[in-house]
Amino acid sequence: MTLREVNLEDFRPLSRWKLLALGRQIQDWLRRGFQVTVLGRPQDLAYFSLVNGVPLDDEPAEIHRPVMLQEVLDFLQARPGAVIVDATAGAGGHTEALARTVGPEGRIIALDRDPEMVRLAQKRLRPYPWVQVLHADFARLPEVLQDLGVQEIHGVLFDLGLSSYHLDQAGRGFTFRRPEPLDLRFDPSEGRPASWYLNRAPQPFLEAVFRLYGEEPLARRLARAIVEARERHPLETTDDLNALIDRWVPVHRRARTRARVYQALRILVNRELDRVAEGLAHALNLLSRNGRLVVLSYHSLEDRLAKALKHLEGVEPLTKKPVRPQETEIRRNPRARSAKLRAYRKTGAIDRGEVVLAYLRSFVPHPAGDLDLL
Ligand SMILES: C[S@@+](CC[C@H](N)C(=O)[O-])C[C@H]1O[C@@H](n2cnc3c(N)ncnc32)[C@H](O)[C@@H]1O
Repeated sequence: MTLREVNLEDFRPLSRWKLLALGRQIQDWLRRGFQVTVLGRPQDLAYFSLVNGVPLDDEPAEIHRPVMLQEVLDFLQARPGAVIVDATAGAGGHTEALARTVGPEGRIIALDRDPEMVRLAQKRLRPYPWVQVLHADFARLPEVLQDLGVQEIHGVLFDLGLSSYHLDQAGRGFTFRRPEPLDLRFDPSEGRPASWYLNRAPQPFLEAVFRLYGEEPLARRLARAIVEARERHPLETTDDLNALIDRWVPVHRRARTRARVYQALRILVNRELDRVAEGLAHALNLLSRNGRLVVLSYHSLEDRLAKALKHLEGVEPLTKKPVRPQETEIRRNPRARSAKLRAYRKTGAIDRGEVVLAYLRSFVPHPAGDLDLL
């Protein structure tokens, strides 16, 4: 399916006749079978829909823009009738495009670990009854598919990390730009919030977390500062953590340090890399012969796991180097900037799934004493 994206920013200054002409153009594309997305500021989208008499979605127009959508569709090569697993449904952007591609003869099983994202995706995907959106961790893919009686899958997509919804609306501390509780769990019913670790874990453990999962050069200094600060006042909110980082990190390094520390905590509380290793190993095992696996990663620790697949027997890499988003996409969606896409084709049976799993797990670092804290 071919995608067309229209950004109302490119039509400034907006006028009624320009929006009407654009509306006619879009009608024509839709008639010709294109999938069209209209982007823009909420007030401009409202103006566009008013002028053209089309209803606006009742969810915010931009919960999350699917990254490298055309590339994902091209590499997955989903055909009408195909069975596809979207391991990370998120706001359902990739899922919706896949649903249109496979059509009612096909089937999409979409998972997300965050119950809130499942609710959003289910709502968006209601018009496609051949899509099932389930609250599940992709590390549990074998059980999920077994429960559904799915025997054959032709493609699997992993769009790792977090969605724009997490940063903008979840209220669980995924962003350091607003005061929010330091939770950072995708599924708040599982595991412990980040504040629990910050207020209890020994200093060497915190240091290792910041070093291993954030690649933060000031890991030791920060861990020591946290352990001293929590004696006086526990760290409960993003403001508490930001104030501490600001006190101990030179001003020109603060933004990067914040990003690394929050990434490290997110990986820790969600056991993110362990789950990715498990999810990828299961997906390869379960894919049919000639099935395709596409992985979008957003930082080097995730990409290391995606890259490791290229050494496996029975797997053909379709991307020599990771594919990066086009400049035009990055301009429209700056959050796509760090994305790397790797794609694989399964050429033969993966005989020893447990060996593949152990191999991928060997790429996941663990701070000493990790298990004692679980
Ligand atoms: C980048 S977003 C996906 C965005 C989606 N492709 C879209 O177009 O809207 C990643 C999603 O993966 C989910 N996620 C993270 N770890 C997961 C796991 N282990 N199992 C299932 N979902 C997971 C997150 O909750 C998040 O919603």
